Amino acid sequence: MRTTLYYFTGTGNSLACARAIAKGLGDTDFVPIASLREEKRIRVPTERVGIVCPVYFYTLPVLVREFIPRLDLSGVKYGFLVATMGGFPGLAVEHGEELFKKAGRELHAGFTVRMFANYVAEYNVRGERSVRAMKARMERRVQRIVAAVQAGERRLEKGGPVDRLLSRAVFALLGRKFVETARTRDRRFTVDPSCVHCGTCAYVCPVENVRLVDGTPQWLGHCEQCFACIHFCPVAAIQVQGKRTRMRGRYQHPDVRADDIAGQRGVS
Ligand SMILES: Cc1cc2nc3c(=O)[nH]c(=O)nc-3n(C[C@H](O)[C@H](O)[C@H](O)COP(=O)(O)O)c2cc1C
Ligand code: SF4
Ligand code: SF4
Repeated sequence: MRTTLYYFTGTGNSLACARAIAKGLGDTDFVPIASLREEKRIRVPTERVGIVCPVYFYTLPVLVREFIPRLDLSGVKYGFLVATMGGFPGLAVEHGEELFKKAGRELHAGFTVRMFANYVAEYNVRGERSVRAMKARMERRVQRIVAAVQAGERRLEKGGPVDRLLSRAVFALLGRKFVETARTRDRRFTVDPSCVHCGTCAYVCPVENVRLVDGTPQWLGHCEQCFACIHFCPVAAIQVQGKRTRMRGRYQHPDVRADDIAGQRGVS
């Protein structure tokens, strides 16, 4: 069965995962969600559809939350979601299921894949050894996911009842506010004098939310919080105000380049 795989990524984990899934499934069209952000209705041209994206604050990114209900799934026989995350998937699969329902179709399978956690606003990002371990873990998970999708399994990995209860509480406390304020949270981004005016931050932004003024970035208030600008800056000059990001490392998936992140914009 031919598959359309829609993806969104900030630091490459979800893209690496989507590539591995596409390789496993074969016969897959790859479509960046950011390239369709202006489309009102998107007809899925295949019988199988997959969404691969990160978890943000226990849910799916706002871009993805707004994307799924705009899908015309009338020709789709099997839908699946793969959410990459740093260890706390929260309600990502549950929310994916609800969003598919809004689009008038069932989500047949939802999986989470633990990858390198990139939310540098709250913690440091770890070293090379854990990236190697992550790649091996991802390969194993992807094998399982591909087998389940090929078999047409119905399998929603939403966690046990206690996990879900806790996740709902955390989402009510933090996630909901994140969803409401995500786009303007770029107000907290600042630039250090160490900026070398290379323009990489503006180049990588998947939704053209960074403008260079005299070579220095300004954010435009329609941010997806993917953190690509922060992680791809070659001198780590972008900080999140009030957080200790200056002391912390930066992360890019080793198999993903700036061109891949920028390429999500599609033709503009
Ligand atoms: C704004 C933001 C919020 C995040 N929230 C969560 C979270 O709630 N749970 C979690 O496990 N990881 C969280 N993460 C980590 C990412 O989900 C994880 O690193 C993901 O694999 C990144 O995917 P990407 O490289 O495709 O952008 C968050 C990252 C960002 C940038
Ligand atoms: S401004 Fe930065 S964090 Fe916001 S969407 Fe663009 S690259 Fe991602
Ligand atoms: S990527 Fe970093 S160094 Fe380059 S323009 Fe942006 S902030 Fe400055």
